Amino acid sequence: VYEGHGVKGLADMGLECLPKQYIQPAEERIDMSKVVSEEFVPVIDMSNWHDQKVADSVCDAAEKWGFFQIVNHGVPVEVLEDVKEATHRFFKLPAVEKRKYSKENSPTNNVRFGTSFTPEAERALEWKDYLSLFYVTDDEASTFWPPVCKNQAQKFIRSSELVIKKLLQVLMRRLNINEIDEEKESMLMGSKRINLNYYPICPNPELTIGVGRHSDVSTLTVLLQDDIGGLYVRKMDTDRWVHVPPISGSLVINVGDALQIMSNGRYKSIEHRVVANGSNNRISVPIFVNPRPADVIGPLAEVLESGEEPMYKQVLYSDYVKHFFSKGHDGKDTVEFAK
Ligand code: SIN
Ligand code: FE2
Repeated sequence: VYEGHGVKGLADMGLECLPKQYIQPAEERIDMSKVVSEEFVPVIDMSNWHDQKVADSVCDAAEKWGFFQIVNHGVPVEVLEDVKEATHRFFKLPAVEKRKYSKENSPTNNVRFGTSFTPEAERALEWKDYLSLFYVTDDEASTFWPPVCKNQAQKFIRSSELVIKKLLQVLMRRLNINEIDEEKESMLMGSKRINLNYYPICPNPELTIGVGRHSDVSTLTVLLQDDIGGLYVRKMDTDRWVHVPPISGSLVINVGDALQIMSNGRYKSIEHRVVANGSNNRISVPIFVNPRPADVIGPLAEVLESGEEPMYKQVLYSDYVKHFFSKGHDGKDTVEFAK
C-alpha cells in the first residue's frame, strides 16, 4: 500500500473504502461507550509557576493523570501558528519531494518521513503520516531538515525550552531533587525529537485508528495540536478514556516512560491514542524531550533514599528506544523492558 505517498496519497486519490491493511482489530478501535465525557485532564496556568499551588497542580497531574494542558506557558502564539502552517506546507509537497526524506532516501537517520508507526512490524496499519526530526544541533538541523519547515520547527523547540525546564524543576522538587546538575539535565532533557504528524480525512474512520494505544518513551512530551481534536488518554487504572479537547494556545504535556522509570513509578506515563477522522484533516506537533541515547536510566538515587524498592532496572536509553521501535503500538508493554 505504501509506496512513498503515505496515507495522504491514498486520501488524495479519493478512496471510498479503507484498504484492508488499515482495518484494526475491534479491540484496538476506540469504543465510544468507554469514553468519559464529564472529566478532563487538568488545565494549568503556568504564569505563576513559582507559586507552590501551581507546582502542586503540575506534580499532582503528573501522578494522577500523566497528562495535563498548560496555558500562559510563555511560548509565543506566533511560534505555534508558524509551526502548524509549516506542517501543512510540508505535507502539501508533491510525493517526490516528501519521498526524499523516506527511510530509503533520507541523507540522515535524523530526518525521516514515514507512514503508520512501524509498518513492517504492525498487525494493522495506522492512518497517519509523519516527518520525524531528531534534534542534535541547530547547525545539523539547518543542513538536513526540509527547508519548508526547518526554521519553524527549530523555533518551536527553542521557544519551549524554558517551560520544559520549569516543569522539570517543579517535578524534580517533589522527588527531593532541588538542584538539576549537568548530568541530571542530560538524563532528563539531553536530546529532543520533533514530529510533524498528519492525519488525513479517512473514508472509514470507525474501522481504523490514527495512532494506536501507546505510552511515549520520552521524559516529557510537549504536544501542540490543532483545533480538530481526537486525542484520547486512558484514565489511570481504568478501562475508561478521556478526550483532550483542543484549547487555543495551549500545549499538552505528558509524562513519558523515561520519567516514570526515573521517578520509580511516581509519575505516570499513560496510554493514549488518536482516532481517525472522517471529515477533517488533523495535524499535531509533539516535541519529545528525551535522555541522550547513551544515557543509562533507572530509578534516581534520591527517590530510593528513603528505602523504596526500585521497580525498574538500569537500561541504556538507546536500547529502550530500539525496543519501542521494533514492534507495533502495544499499550504500555514497552516499560516491561526495564523490569
Ligand atoms: C501521539 O501520541 O503519538 C500523537 C498525539 C497526537 O497526535 O495528538
Ligand atoms: Fe504519544
